[in-house]
Amino acid sequence: MMRIIFATGNQNKVRECHEILDSVADEIISMKDAGLDPDIAEDGDTFEKNAMIKAEAVHKLAPDDLVIADDSGLCIDALNGEPGVYSARYMGKDTSYDIKNANILERLEGVPKEKRTARFVCAMAAILPDGSSFTKTGVMEGYIGDHAEGQNGFGYDPIFFVEPQNHSTASLSPDEKNAISHRGKAMRAMAEELKKRLDK
Ligand code: IMP
Repeated sequence: MMRIIFATGNQNKVRECHEILDSVADEIISMKDAGLDPDIAEDGDTFEKNAMIKAEAVHKLAPDDLVIADDSGLCIDALNGEPGVYSARYMGKDTSYDIKNANILERLEGVPKEKRTARFVCAMAAILPDGSSFTKTGVMEGYIGDHAEGQNGFGYDPIFFVEPQNHSTASLSPDEKNAISHRGKAMRAMAEELKKRLDK
């Protein structure tokens, strides 16, 4: 068994990852808990490239550990895939999501439901101690509602609606969201691949 370092500062992601990767590793810790604070230039033009950039930055500092990283965002078809890889930086990284979400609803005013299709995408990258690496991507399909709703989740959840509920992912319980989410799917696919590669 080995240690996994998750190249993230987000404790929620580390906790979610525990539930899915417990059978693969003895210990799963964030890069901060591993005492690592690399300079990461997230300048890739795909989720996969950005996830691998984060994983590589940590792998350089901790080559004996299994390093994982993720990158995710919201792609809206009627906005040519925006905000995409710029999801966290859309309208400035310190702008509140109330403002970002209101802006997106305004940009989509008058667009009919069938043209409001969107998806959350999450790429997970892994680098093993032998230097081999791979990425796995998970997608959650949905559409942008005509209003914001729900108190759970974070970020763009209040305006991202899923079928068949026709409610936003901010209206789902954390367990309901994990079962269908881009991040849950990418993490489960990564866990399967790691089990194969580590012969578990
Ligand atoms: P990162 O992957 O932590 O860099 O985050 C990318 C950004 O995408 C987040 O800051 C959110 O704006 C957005 N995002 C990614 N996943 C979700 C989600 O599950 N719900 C809402 N927003 C999300």
